[in-house]
Amino acid sequence: MLKKMVPTCNFAKRMYSTATGKVKAQKYVLTKYFQGEPKKSDFKIVEEELPELKEGEVLAEAEYLSVDPYMRAYMIGYKLPTDMIGGQVAKIISSRNKNYAVGKYLAGSFGWRTHTIVKPDDFNTPAGFIPVTLLPDFGTHPVSLGLGVLGMPGNTAYFGVKEICKPKPGETIVITGGAGAVGSHVGQIGKILGCRVVGFAGTDEKCEYLEKELGFDRAFNYKTVDIRAALKDGCPKRVDCYFDNVGGEISTTIMSHMNKYGRVAVCGSISSYNDMKLPKVTILQPAIVFKELKVEGFLVNRWTDRWNEGIKANLKWLNEGKLKYQEKVYHGFDNMVDALVGMLRGENTGKAVVKVK
Ligand SMILES: NC(=O)c1ccc[n+]([C@@H]2O[C@H](COP(=O)([O-])OP(=O)(O)OC[C@H]3O[C@@H](n4cnc5c(N)ncnc54)[C@H](OP(=O)(O)O)[C@@H]3O)[C@@H](O)[C@H]2O)c1
Repeated sequence: MLKKMVPTCNFAKRMYSTATGKVKAQKYVLTKYFQGEPKKSDFKIVEEELPELKEGEVLAEAEYLSVDPYMRAYMIGYKLPTDMIGGQVAKIISSRNKNYAVGKYLAGSFGWRTHTIVKPDDFNTPAGFIPVTLLPDFGTHPVSLGLGVLGMPGNTAYFGVKEICKPKPGETIVITGGAGAVGSHVGQIGKILGCRVVGFAGTDEKCEYLEKELGFDRAFNYKTVDIRAALKDGCPKRVDCYFDNVGGEISTTIMSHMNKYGRVAVCGSISSYNDMKLPKVTILQPAIVFKELKVEGFLVNRWTDRWNEGIKANLKWLNEGKLKYQEKVYHGFDNMVDALVGMLRGENTGKAVVKVK
């Protein structure tokens, strides 16, 4: 019994010894509520010294931080000052947990910070956020995909399509925010499932990418086309599923062009996140009633207990060449706010991430 215990202790010591001295973490603290677009002056960057690791804990160093639309929408619910929320992919640089070895990667909702001490087995995930995940081996794919196709947005697409839209082969699915992290993924799953896929995005280049690279049947620049005419042209059999990432008037127009018993997955409403006053849109209820639509909002953490199912399915499609991705990589911990604003303005095609150093 004693013999067995000795190597276990040594192993823990050896893993722990990877950390030298006390580690200083940097983190963003939000000190002012956003007014319109987020600004650097809404935050301060604070340094904090982390304590020694306790049994069961690991120290993780952020390699990629995520910028996501929800960050713009959610902060109003926090009492200030507060640590900035957000997902990250972080490398374990020190460990006192035998299931979480040094060198492995975690994805988790650790916020905008450089280093985090976490007890993965009982990490207190803030309500509504992603679970701490030990990233599986991504093979030759970059670990940053743990924030994109192989992470939260990928699972949003996977479960949103599979569980809410439930498209049948031959049906038509329309996606707004079509060239973003979630939207570009939704469209590709739609093609995998044998659907006609039509996307809306904010530039001609994005639309060309959707049609030529990702196999969307049609893509339209919502800033320059007449939405009704685009729907007539792109969806001759009308719309069976609508994956709504943006909300607002375009969503009312699309829902008015749906078939009976159509399904609407309400994923987000980015068209209003920066607005100081919520916009008014044309009444939706007639379309919902007369077409007997099923409209369902969802949050991806509904499927926390199936998280790895989504990652595995997306990884399989990626390895089979059925799923493609793009990333917009910003550089430097100091540039988090520029990255968040850039993503909200539409600088990204695919997932926007920040490489910490
Ligand atoms: N329910 C959930 O659990 C869940 C999870 C993840 C994401 N979401 C939601 O899904 C949506 C997409 O998220 P994402 O992470 O994939 O972000 P994303 O699409 O990668 O990035 C945001 C995109 O929104 C577009 N956009 C900005 N302002 C717009 C406007 N006024 N009208 C239309 N489009 C606008 C921009 O593209 P353009 O150039 O095309 O304008 C921008 O690239 C968001 O609404 C987000 O809140 C929900």
